[in-house]
Amino acid sequence: MNNLMTHLREAATYIQSQLTISAKVGIVLGSGLGNLANLVEIEKEIPYAEIPYFPVSTVKGHGGKLIIGKLKGKSVLVMAGRFHFYEGYTPQQVVFPIRVMKLLGVETLLLSNAAGAVNPDYKVGDLMILKDHISFFTSNPLIGSNEEDLGTRFPDMSEPYCKKLIAEAIKIAKINNIELHEGVYTAVTGPTFETHAEYQLIKFIGSDVVGMSTVQETIAAVHAGMKVFAVSVVTDLGIRHEDNIITHEEVLEAAKAAEPKLSLLFIELIQQL
Ligand code: HPA
Repeated sequence: MNNLMTHLREAATYIQSQLTISAKVGIVLGSGLGNLANLVEIEKEIPYAEIPYFPVSTVKGHGGKLIIGKLKGKSVLVMAGRFHFYEGYTPQQVVFPIRVMKLLGVETLLLSNAAGAVNPDYKVGDLMILKDHISFFTSNPLIGSNEEDLGTRFPDMSEPYCKKLIAEAIKIAKINNIELHEGVYTAVTGPTFETHAEYQLIKFIGSDVVGMSTVQETIAAVHAGMKVFAVSVVTDLGIRHEDNIITHEEVLEAAKAAEPKLSLLFIELIQQL
């Protein structure tokens, strides 16, 4: 067994030793979107720093712990705080926790993120379901020798985001009067926000929002045979006007304001799983 599988199994074994329940649903909460973790009836919280081989989160707005518990009676494993490529982690480190979730029995992964809109019809605070993504502006986490125990060398990406889950989410949003877009997320490395020319390019290539997370996690999850559902919260408008300055504080504030809609959507979707 190579190092990666050994490390993943050690991390999973450690987590399992702390738990009395298991979860089929994993959740990763994005910047400013951590409040869902407060709604979990907690069975156990494990700081990332305690878990063998887990990277440690450094960015403001990220809690850095794994939470297991129940949301409206359904068991969930929640990553409150994720690892970003721009923090200096390798893409393999970024997706390490996703693979650990797989080993722990997670079958469905729900991801959230804050993103900048390049679709002129989008407003700050809107939610967008990812129907697809463009990964070419960041590094693919599957580069390197393939771990056959996880998945195949050349994974299909024709449906990175589960169509059935998207359809369910649209129904839930309608019932609860939540406006939802469906669109394409382009992943960039960050940590700089984009230049005007870059926002224009991202729009031109067919995307609706841009962000610095999610896609590497989706790729690793799909590689390992998990179903993925992901939502962006629009926190800023990349193509608004030339003197549009974007700050991390503005992103966190907008994410926080829109967060209750996202929590409702996730909680209701989990009931269907
Ligand atoms: N660009 C990239 N990442 C982001 C943005 C953005 O405008 N907003 C929030 N995350």
